[in-house]
Amino acid sequence: MSIYLDHNATTPPWPPALDAMREAAETLWANPASVHRPGQRARAMLERARRAVETLTGLPARDVVLTSGGTEANNIALHAPFAPGEPAPGALVTSRIEHPSVVQAAEALAQRGVPVVWVEPTPDGRITAAAVETAVKGPVALLSVQAVGHETGTVQPIAELRALADRWNAWLHVDAVQALGRMPPATWAGADMVTVAAHKLRGPKGIGALAVRAGLKVRPVLRGGGQERGLRPGTQDAALAAGFAVAAERAADGGAERYRVLAARRDRLEAGLLQLAEGRGIAVEVNGPRGEGRAPHVTNLSFAGWRGPELCASLDLEGVAVSSGSACSAGTAEPSSVITAMLGRDRAVSAVRISLGETTTEADVSGTLEAFARVLVR
Ligand SMILES: Cc1ncc(COP(=O)(O)O)c(C=O)c1O
Repeated sequence: MSIYLDHNATTPPWPPALDAMREAAETLWANPASVHRPGQRARAMLERARRAVETLTGLPARDVVLTSGGTEANNIALHAPFAPGEPAPGALVTSRIEHPSVVQAAEALAQRGVPVVWVEPTPDGRITAAAVETAVKGPVALLSVQAVGHETGTVQPIAELRALADRWNAWLHVDAVQALGRMPPATWAGADMVTVAAHKLRGPKGIGALAVRAGLKVRPVLRGGGQERGLRPGTQDAALAAGFAVAAERAADGGAERYRVLAARRDRLEAGLLQLAEGRGIAVEVNGPRGEGRAPHVTNLSFAGWRGPELCASLDLEGVAVSSGSACSAGTAEPSSVITAMLGRDRAVSAVRISLGETTTEADVSGTLEAFARVLVR
């Protein structure tokens, strides 16, 4: 038995995306920056990926910067308003429940002297407009909040944060990696910059994008050639772009509907796990919102007395793949910094994230409940 419930770490590539990549790798291997016709043909595939990102995000293809993934896009976004050697035009406002590529980039900017305001999340992982207002004491240059929490599935109130950013004349960056292709566009609408990662929407790893509102100037983090209008130097890969384009076109076409149906499966799984644990005298709690304000495919639970990594390892032996934090922090001894920021270290130590995806079946839910039943008696 093999059940994959770690779709927030990455999703299985969509077979037509793989086909498109294979074909492009064979036929579009010329350097997309070359002016000759083979180069032009490779470049056309980059443009197709850019158009797919426009369809997905609502931001113009012309201003899409293709990157090596979400991490690089987040780094470009966070550095955008802060020119090295110049005074910061205002603070960077973000939180400790963001992806490490935001948190660490913010820490690096703080070391450079940029004022960084860390907003307290609510216990269910929301960054409310009220909390942002309380935390902010001076001018703001950039507000960076993810659309959907990568560990908890909490949906952030982006429209309210947009209104605050307008009031402060600040930019709003939304890391929509966990929302695109899974949630309706209202989840990230209004953002000035949107981060995309192809591998979370059944495309390849190693490619993503920062979509930018027309007229807004970002600056390169890496230095090099003139690719991506100098904003992301380095030779682009038309094969990765092909997989990204095909996956993003599909994600824009019914992705949210395909994910919406997962709510019933997630709810059955969550209710089953609560019942199972309580029946064995294990205190269990959901980390994140119940009901409103959560993405349909994620649950994050703490099982008192268990350590998350041990529970994950036991489930792995039973053929069920889940995780105890974001994949980026896996292998570290530290419990999830996201759950720690929301609910404290004890809850984080015993946390397990279960994330469903397009390939998740009712049988996977039943199989997972059976595997937990075998593991939790130990
Ligand atoms: C919310 C979020 N942002 C950014 C990233 C980083 O994307 P990538 O793996 O493409 O660098 C991830 C991936 O885990 C993510 O979940």
